[in-house]
Amino acid sequence: MTIAKLARPEIRALKPYAAASQIDATIRLNANEAPWTSRADRFRRPLNRYPEIRPARLRSALADRYGCGEENLLVTRGTSEGIDLLLRVFCRAGQDSMLIIAPTFSMYRHYAAVQGARVIEVETSGHDDFAVDIDALLESCDATTRLIFICSPNNPTGTSMPRDNLLRLLDARGDRSAIVVDEAYIEFAGEPSMVGLLHSYSNLIVLRTLSKALAYAGARCGSVIGPAAVIDMLDAVQAPYAMATPVVECVENALQAENLNEAEQRVSDIVAERDRLVAAIDQFSFVRKIWSSAANFFLIEVDNVEALLEQCVADKILLRYFGGSLADCIRITVGSTAENDRLLQSFESVLNTSISS
Ligand SMILES: Cc1ncc(COP(=O)(O)O)c(C=O)c1O
Repeated sequence: MTIAKLARPEIRALKPYAAASQIDATIRLNANEAPWTSRADRFRRPLNRYPEIRPARLRSALADRYGCGEENLLVTRGTSEGIDLLLRVFCRAGQDSMLIIAPTFSMYRHYAAVQGARVIEVETSGHDDFAVDIDALLESCDATTRLIFICSPNNPTGTSMPRDNLLRLLDARGDRSAIVVDEAYIEFAGEPSMVGLLHSYSNLIVLRTLSKALAYAGARCGSVIGPAAVIDMLDAVQAPYAMATPVVECVENALQAENLNEAEQRVSDIVAERDRLVAAIDQFSFVRKIWSSAANFFLIEVDNVEALLEQCVADKILLRYFGGSLADCIRITVGSTAENDRLLQSFESVLNTSISS
């Protein structure tokens, strides 16, 4: 059994776009490209040529990094594109649903709205440290629930879903839903990725990104990792030549061993900074709660959220406020040591204003 059968019928029938062939050492008069190269073009593969329809070397390097087969990975323009593709492949507008845990990353809901998919939301609460009741989650699913998005560590709460819960979910839903585990922040968590379980669970899809731990948000490069039959359908929907030549070349460089080693060191530095910042912020009387985080950010609850945000804006520091069920909360991304010190100074400043009174 496979979750590929859950995909929209028209997508299952879709043939990939037939691009003009690209063969080295040939005269290419088949793609309406320019025959000359701009003086400003400094790339290994000249920009007058279309990029590869799918970047084979990059795909192989990413598959190596994540520990999966090349046939199990699609390179995407950030994880965001992966989320969009999954919704478009699996959810029929006005009929199918995806399930998310709230609060979570807002892009799932955004792309569900674009596709016209119904959203089933399972609420969690800061009082229980955003723990997910798996029984309640399973009860909330219905016959139309094609996708279940689990963000772990979760943005914006920083909480990880325990592996046992993920396994229960994978077992319980079987081939009735694809379980999409968004591991955008996994490197900061020091936990093993779910990718290793791909061969044991045919309903598992994992999302990875270079935007966080690798410091390549500007390059826009993510991966969807899952059963080959699902990857083939996502591939058929993704735009041809999706990954631009400059991106492919810069990400191939980023995946060289010395860069990966540097990123690993930087991740440890960020985790140490996170712990320092949390300990320092915890000392302020107006901070009511700090949730433990496995990511490069953390969520805090304060007495007078407006005053704190105003002070930070005055000090030219941007923090993230969500409102709704997180009305008194702010998400803080861990910056450099100097940036974090500036933030602590802003916290000091608010002690002298109305917030502490
Ligand atoms: C949980 C989560 N998933 C995915 C993304 C998007 O990442 P990308 O830059 O790869 O599109 C983000 C970005 O903040 C995120 O928080």
